[in-house]
Amino acid sequence: MSARFHRRTVLAGLAGLAACDGRAESPSALAFAALKDVAPFPVGVCAESGQLADIGWRALVDRHFDRLTPEFEMKSEVVLRPDGGLVFDAGDRLASYAEQTGKRLHGHALIWYSQGAEGFAPLDGDRARFAAAYRTYIVEVAGRYRGRADGWDVVNEPVAEDGEGFRDCHWRRNLGMAYVEQAFVHAAEADPSAVRFLNEYNLESLPAKRRTFLRLLEDLLRRGAPVTGIGTQTHLSIEDDPATVRTAIAELGAYGLPVHVSELDISTQGRWDAGAERKQARLAAAVAEGIMALPPAQRYGLTLWGARDRDSWLTRPPRPPGDRPMLFDDQGAPKSALEALATVLAG
Ligand code: G3I
Repeated sequence: MSARFHRRTVLAGLAGLAACDGRAESPSALAFAALKDVAPFPVGVCAESGQLADIGWRALVDRHFDRLTPEFEMKSEVVLRPDGGLVFDAGDRLASYAEQTGKRLHGHALIWYSQGAEGFAPLDGDRARFAAAYRTYIVEVAGRYRGRADGWDVVNEPVAEDGEGFRDCHWRRNLGMAYVEQAFVHAAEADPSAVRFLNEYNLESLPAKRRTFLRLLEDLLRRGAPVTGIGTQTHLSIEDDPATVRTAIAELGAYGLPVHVSELDISTQGRWDAGAERKQARLAAAVAEGIMALPPAQRYGLTLWGARDRDSWLTRPPRPPGDRPMLFDDQGAPKSALEALATVLAG
């Protein structure tokens, strides 16, 4: 059964279910639909291999999601050993779980300013050897999952925190800003079929950061760099304005490339009351509206940066307890944000 036909069947069933009690389509009916059946594009979730032993996590993830992003186990912090060796055990476990449960895979992240320095330290200052090792790392990691990943976050977070210019990092100190373009060239060589993303955060709340990000993207595209996707992490808080979310996705979509809302969470900043839940739901709806406003070919998908509240990086030490950033609560029950998102996706 094609996904499109399946989705229509699910929606018709939900409408029928709602109609039989005489009310307009009941949002609560959507709250219990499988998110991946309601969405007209892949809905992903981040994962770490330790979660595969969690029965509750697997039940929720197998029901609602059809794509997996390794939260950190395909990053250099796990893959690249200090002696330069590469370790893929955890990443392989996640890739196998995805394939065994009919999920797609999104690779994250090949090059990130905040990781990889230790493994490359012996090459600092030797540009030729550094560049050769840089290519080898990218080709080895992305090549290992060749044909299995829908896409890769090739370069993650190149823009300065405040949006004024670009981050300083070991990649840039050794290769100049060419590190960005070179990463895409090597990723294209490693896996030509994967969509290659430039991925960044705070593009909604910081217009200056979005402007610098888009300036970098335009420069890369002008130079013919093989960038084929735009990732907006979309780590939000309930104090964010839903309109800025829709505006940001529309601006990113103007380049005709696939857009990935790649790491959605909506921090309630330690609060949990009716007001916080309402604000969270409004923002979740705005994200869905932003994606649905894109042409279907540009809807690469939506990835939640956690399944249940307890699975979120925002609820782990050293962060204070009490945040409720996800669509499902600690027990895996849907929250208003899930219903709001599903209602928009159901059209
Ligand atoms: O699971 C191990 C645990 O067994 C061990 O005792 C502990 C101490 O070493 O580490 C645990 O792994 C940590 C893991 O989070 C799970 O908590 C890693 O050290 C830690 O580095 C990892 O942090 C991840 C972080 O990126 C850095 O890779 C977070 O999970 C992950 O949510 C976060 O995700 C980033 C995106 O990649 C990029 N955008 C921002 C986003 C949030 O920071």
